[in-house]
Amino acid sequence: MTTRVPMVAGNWKLNHTLADAKQLVSTLAAEAPDRSQCEVVVAPPATALKTVVDTALGSAVAVAAQNVYHEKSGAFTGENSPALIRDVGCSHCIVGHSERRQLFSETDAAVHQKVVSLLEHQLIPIVCVGETLAQRDEGTTVSVVLGQTEAALKGLSDDQLADVVIAYEPVWAIGTGRTASPQDAQDVHAAIRGFLSKDFGASVAESTRILYGGSVKPNNAKELLAEPDIDGALVGGASLKSESFLPIVQAAF
Ligand code: PGA
Repeated sequence: MTTRVPMVAGNWKLNHTLADAKQLVSTLAAEAPDRSQCEVVVAPPATALKTVVDTALGSAVAVAAQNVYHEKSGAFTGENSPALIRDVGCSHCIVGHSERRQLFSETDAAVHQKVVSLLEHQLIPIVCVGETLAQRDEGTTVSVVLGQTEAALKGLSDDQLADVVIAYEPVWAIGTGRTASPQDAQDVHAAIRGFLSKDFGASVAESTRILYGGSVKPNNAKELLAEPDIDGALVGGASLKSESFLPIVQAAF
């Protein structure tokens, strides 16, 4: 029997003005379940982080940044550090999203630096991994995903890993309306957990949350989340409205 508390995280990407962000998070804050049932996280654009943190204050909704730079401070125009996102009240941060890897050339090495820096600042990284369609067709899904996972987490202590959340997001399923079948997703999640068990030990692997992402919607969430190694969802498009996000949260516990 697993004791992992599910997590459902909404990645708002480059969407929502302050007014829209405030309205959405007020509804989520009023409706979110207790954190012992399901952890609800929202990741607004950086411009709305403070507003969302303030609006969610005292509720069960936690707030994530969508990206971070690993350095503490200095001449890095346009970047935000772990210390700054913590200062606005974030508790989590998405790292290595495929859009960052593909559109902004983020490497495995950069993802690793971000993970280490976030952990040093007591922030929870949500580390995204996933294969492209070409890689799936070539049959290299598991090696690609485990390679990204290993690169992101190498050298972490068991204690540090205990705070990390992993999100398996097949690139071909993001924003396309195509999802991995529950069985295909489960197979990759089980492979990730197997890797964690080998490298960090069975008890850390058993307690690490592995979310699925890629066109998760109210109508497919239940069957995906019923799989034994799928511990929640990282939701893009369907997280932009409470009407589509909250049913996914409900499906998780
Ligand atoms: P999607 O995005 O739900 O719109 O496919 C998921 C993600 O990019 O995290």
